[in-house]
Amino acid sequence: MDLKISNMDEYNNAYAMAQSNPQEFWAQMATNFQWTKKWDEVQSGTIEQADIKWFDGAQLNITENCLDRHLEKRSDQVALLFEPNDPSEETVKYTYAQLHAAVCKTANMLKELGVKKGDRVCIYMSMVPEQLISVLACARLGAIHSVVFGGFSALALAGRIEDCECKVLITNDAGFRGNKIIPLKEISDEALKMKECRSIEKVLVHKRVGSSVSMQEGRDIWWHDLYAKCSTECEAEVMSSEDPLFILYTSGSTGKPKGILHTTAGYMVWAAYTFANVFQVDEGDTYWCTADIGWITGHTYITYGPLLNGATTTMFEGVPTWPDAGRFWDIVDKHKITHFYTAPTAIRALMGCGNEFVTNKSLTSLKVLGSVGEPINEEAWHWYDEVVGKKKCPIVDTWWQTETGGILISPLAGITKTIPCFATKPLPGVSPVLMNSEGEVIETTEASGNLCIDRPWPGMLRGIWGDMERFKQTYLSAYPGKYFTGDGCKRDQFSNYRITGRVDDVLNISGHRIGTAEVEDAIDQHPDVIEAAVVGFPHDVKGQGIYAYVVTGHDCEDSIKAEIIATVNKMIGPIAKPDKIQIVKGLPKTRSGKIMRRILRKIASHEFDNFGDTSTLLDPSVVDEIKDGVL
Ligand code: PRX
Repeated sequence: MDLKISNMDEYNNAYAMAQSNPQEFWAQMATNFQWTKKWDEVQSGTIEQADIKWFDGAQLNITENCLDRHLEKRSDQVALLFEPNDPSEETVKYTYAQLHAAVCKTANMLKELGVKKGDRVCIYMSMVPEQLISVLACARLGAIHSVVFGGFSALALAGRIEDCECKVLITNDAGFRGNKIIPLKEISDEALKMKECRSIEKVLVHKRVGSSVSMQEGRDIWWHDLYAKCSTECEAEVMSSEDPLFILYTSGSTGKPKGILHTTAGYMVWAAYTFANVFQVDEGDTYWCTADIGWITGHTYITYGPLLNGATTTMFEGVPTWPDAGRFWDIVDKHKITHFYTAPTAIRALMGCGNEFVTNKSLTSLKVLGSVGEPINEEAWHWYDEVVGKKKCPIVDTWWQTETGGILISPLAGITKTIPCFATKPLPGVSPVLMNSEGEVIETTEASGNLCIDRPWPGMLRGIWGDMERFKQTYLSAYPGKYFTGDGCKRDQFSNYRITGRVDDVLNISGHRIGTAEVEDAIDQHPDVIEAAVVGFPHDVKGQGIYAYVVTGHDCEDSIKAEIIATVNKMIGPIAKPDKIQIVKGLPKTRSGKIMRRILRKIASHEFDNFGDTSTLLDPSVVDEIKDGVL
């Protein structure tokens, strides 16, 4: 059976079969791939036991499925299209044959540096082709890639390197981003000086900007020096289905970021299946996802999903508003992009810049528009539909998470009827349930509750690196036998799903996931700070902004706010920078010492009535003081 569904009847049939006979359904889907050895069992293990396996007993290499498998038919087709930051710099294109050769050469470089199957490799790079190539080179060797977004600080990078004990770090001298240059090698050097970073043996440095950087003898190697010497032949390592493919760190409501672990075969099938069905890319189409490879969207929908389907994928180095707010649309016209996938925060930012940046472009190549990462508001949905899509392009509002590996709920382009702000229907194999406050499944169709997934799907995370207990606690314990997403959700009378946002202490800032506890810990590092509480508040462009309430030891100068921001930049990176900092005398706490975040959230959102039950507050006068000083 072909991966691709082409009408609503086929969707209904596929959904029904994946529910009633998942083993047979996924066995049929899996025949679309190249296996060194077929599986013994399609799915085994349970959510209760936290031992989910897909295609157990099979052997494969995902890069053979992304690259080698296409060489016969597509060797001259463009696999990767790279659009540089500077519009005057030439586009770079890799055909499938060229990408295959580049991945093999890079895998050989990693071998030279001592990388073997199972080793962890950290990739801390800007959006250049070599970043995607590095990811695939790791997979070619069976090394586990851990990509760290280039906007994270040295400390955040060091923490991630330490947690999974990476052996090699791949970085750039520096990266271009709009009118900024990000000194990636310098940040890497700073990270590697920290005691946490002892596991790194070699640093491979790709030259992008030409910045002067210091190279440590014996440790640091220039990409171009080694690349030139390496062969374009590299046999793919034979991997077992459940061998780890990658780790990707993401924030939770408590503690340090978690290393989400994805394994080989299930992730591959899920990435390919969801890409094929949600986007409905055809031969000759050019697909572009604007995410960074440092996030899960860039893993599944820039790298693996498109290449597994033999599509042409686009990578953009820059930002949507540089040199001006028409940059995305210039690129769409330049490359005749047919499928465009971005985040609501970018849509809102561009919407605010005026329609003229869009209406003076042609955009006639566009067929499908996608949205990901956060709830899209009604105004942005309509603007995207009317001004960008000219009401001719279906919008696929795709709901998923780092943990889910790929899209779980989304319209299928041109097939599912779209509804503004609704992710609509689950993909075949996805069984969403809404839970009430008693922890029971809500049986009525029209309902709202906490969103859980009732049975394993192939792309499901298999664990948290080094911490299986936390994996069980975070996702599998709240509702026994179910995967808990952390999201609230509404279901309409026709069983369409609308995601309403996180129900835990995770913030979604411009589509980036940030834990309130992480930001609080960072702020606490400032020597004058006694205590801090961080909440989200509605923000026109970012979706949510960060509001920090900070208790200081003594009367501080106003400059403390800038210092706090600098501290957060240092501990996490600019993405976690508070938008508003209110210095307060105390935080609203219960007699047992728990901060009443509900009240802080309301004040930050300028909702001053109805704080709910405040009778357990230790000192109710604190609330008035905070309210009076609100920003
Ligand atoms: O709250 C949901 C929101 O983003 C969270 C997952 O974040 P992350 O793991 O960083 O992955 C982002 C890219 C997949 C979810 O728990 N989210 C993601 N997509 C949507 C969304 N909220 C509403 N609508 C979406 N389409």
